[in-house]
Amino acid sequence: MNSEIEKPEGVSLRPIPETAVNIYTPKNTFDATVVSKRRINHPSSPNYDWHIVFDIDGCDMEGKYRIGQSIGVIPAGRFNDPALNQIHRGLNSKVRLYSIASASWGDSWDGKTVSICVKREMSEDPVTGQLVFGAASNYICDAKPGDKVQITGPVGKNFLLPDDPLEHDFVFVATGTGIAPYRGMLIELFNAGVERDLWLIFGVPYSTDVMYEADFRYFEKTHSNFNFITAISREQRNAKGGKRYVQDVLVEKESELIPLLQKQSTMLYMCGLKGMENGIYQWLAKINSDLISIPEGLDAKAVQELARDAAEWPIIERTRNKERLLKETY
Ligand code: A2P
Repeated sequence: MNSEIEKPEGVSLRPIPETAVNIYTPKNTFDATVVSKRRINHPSSPNYDWHIVFDIDGCDMEGKYRIGQSIGVIPAGRFNDPALNQIHRGLNSKVRLYSIASASWGDSWDGKTVSICVKREMSEDPVTGQLVFGAASNYICDAKPGDKVQITGPVGKNFLLPDDPLEHDFVFVATGTGIAPYRGMLIELFNAGVERDLWLIFGVPYSTDVMYEADFRYFEKTHSNFNFITAISREQRNAKGGKRYVQDVLVEKESELIPLLQKQSTMLYMCGLKGMENGIYQWLAKINSDLISIPEGLDAKAVQELARDAAEWPIIERTRNKERLLKETY
């Protein structure tokens, strides 16, 4: 029993609220208190990914956010310094959005907390060769229990679970920290007693980067309707000898996924790198899925050959079935 993801004895599930947005804005922020933080990737990874829990007791957002929404964080502290983050020059002090990673009732089950997952952004300035630190991500990852952080939100109306979640099957596809909303969604679905099929396909560079792995393995062990598959791009190969990406998993599992996605009640979610969208649209074109429409003058084969920056991609994105193919990419 893991009381963060499985309802403790005696607790009743809170109803999922109506969608509310922008209760707090950059001009009207809330001072959330850091309750706890824990590393969510493997200790030996060179990346540092943290799960942070904020106390929002007394906040107008308490009990009002929905999983799939984001909260904003106003960066402050020692990394909010242009000398440390030249690449992001001009962004200092501007709000940064992070997907909520807890269920709508928070990791505390009472709606009084909200959690996010954050990867420390560290890179080199390609011009100067100097080390660059993300202002917001390092500020949040450095925070200690008791620290106050200014937050805004909630933000987003389109990447939510449907109002009748138990009537749907779900295929969730994530890269990197795009995993955040699925953690909360899976907690909500399993605790509500979902019996339909759930797939989570998660792409990361190395096996040490699989975030929340213990939670997902636990769900895999306890729920036979849950399929959890990782695509470890820099360790595994696809059938053509290239990096194994999330879209390669879709191909590998076609015999199960095609009939599943033909059901009008199945939803497909994409969250993470913008780059994964094209690969997923290509697969949907290849399997002749009604989740997308192929632009006039093209056929499924031509979609496979489109250049990465082809003008048709935004058309495919815009004309997709927005009820059943949801995306949150960046
Ligand atoms: P890679 O970087 O090896 O090319 P993170 O955000 O933690 O770096 O993880 C993102 C994951 O998504 C990585 O495994 C990355 O692979 C992978 N990725 C990068 N580009 C694409 C793409 N176009 N389609 C699917 N996955 C991608």
